[in-house]
Amino acid sequence: MQIFLDTANLEEIRKAKEWGAIDGVTTNPSLVSKENEDFHSLVGKICEMVEGPVSAEVISLESEGMIKEAQELSKIAPNVVVKLPITLDGLKAVNTLEKQGISTNVTLVFSVNQALLAANAGASYVSPFLGRLDDIGESGVALVEDLVEVFDNYSFSTQIISASIRHPQHMVEVARVGSHVATIPFKVLQQMVSHPLTDIGIKRFLEDWEKSKSSS
Ligand code: G3P
Repeated sequence: MQIFLDTANLEEIRKAKEWGAIDGVTTNPSLVSKENEDFHSLVGKICEMVEGPVSAEVISLESEGMIKEAQELSKIAPNVVVKLPITLDGLKAVNTLEKQGISTNVTLVFSVNQALLAANAGASYVSPFLGRLDDIGESGVALVEDLVEVFDNYSFSTQIISASIRHPQHMVEVARVGSHVATIPFKVLQQMVSHPLTDIGIKRFLEDWEKSKSSS
C-alpha cells in the first residue's frame, strides 16, 4: 500500500521525505488555509519536494470553473493531481479533464455508488473519507472493503486513496482490505513507528551495554 502525507505543511513533508516514508501528498482547502502562503506557489514547492502525485483541490462548484482551475493547477507541475468533489459538476469536470490528460482525485466519497460513478467518469483516484464516516456511526473501513471488491470485479484502474485516517489502526485495517493508497496526517505517520516495547527494548539494550562496560 502506498502512503501519502495529508498535509500542506512543507516542514512535515520534508521530515517524512527524509524518513523515506511517503509516496505522495494530498492537500485540501482546510489544510492549505493553515499555511500562510499563496496556494499555487505552495503547490509548486510541494511538487518540487515530492516526485509522486500531489493532490490540489479546486474550490469552484460548477464544472466550467472546476475545469479552468484544474487546467491552471496542472500547469504548475506534471505530478499535480486535481482534486474535485463528487457532485454532478465534479463528474462532468473529471470526464473532461481525464480526456485532456489531467489526473483527477474525486474526494468526499462516502458511498460505493459515488465511487462507482467517479470510476466510470475516468477518475485516476477516489478518496473515501473513513474518519468522517466513523464519526456518524458508520464504518469507513467497510466502505473501503466494498470499494476494493467492486473495483476488482470490473478491473477499474481507478485507485482507492483511504482518507480521513485518524489513527494507526485505520492503517492496519485499510492495508488488510487492499486499499491502494492511504493518505495520513503527520501525527499518524509518527504514531505508526512507535511501540512501547521498542522503547523498553532500546532502553534495556543500552543499560546492559553500559553495565558490561563498567564491569570490564
Ligand atoms: O484527506 C482528507 C482529510 O484531510 C480529512 O480528514 O480528519 O478532516 O476528516 P478529517
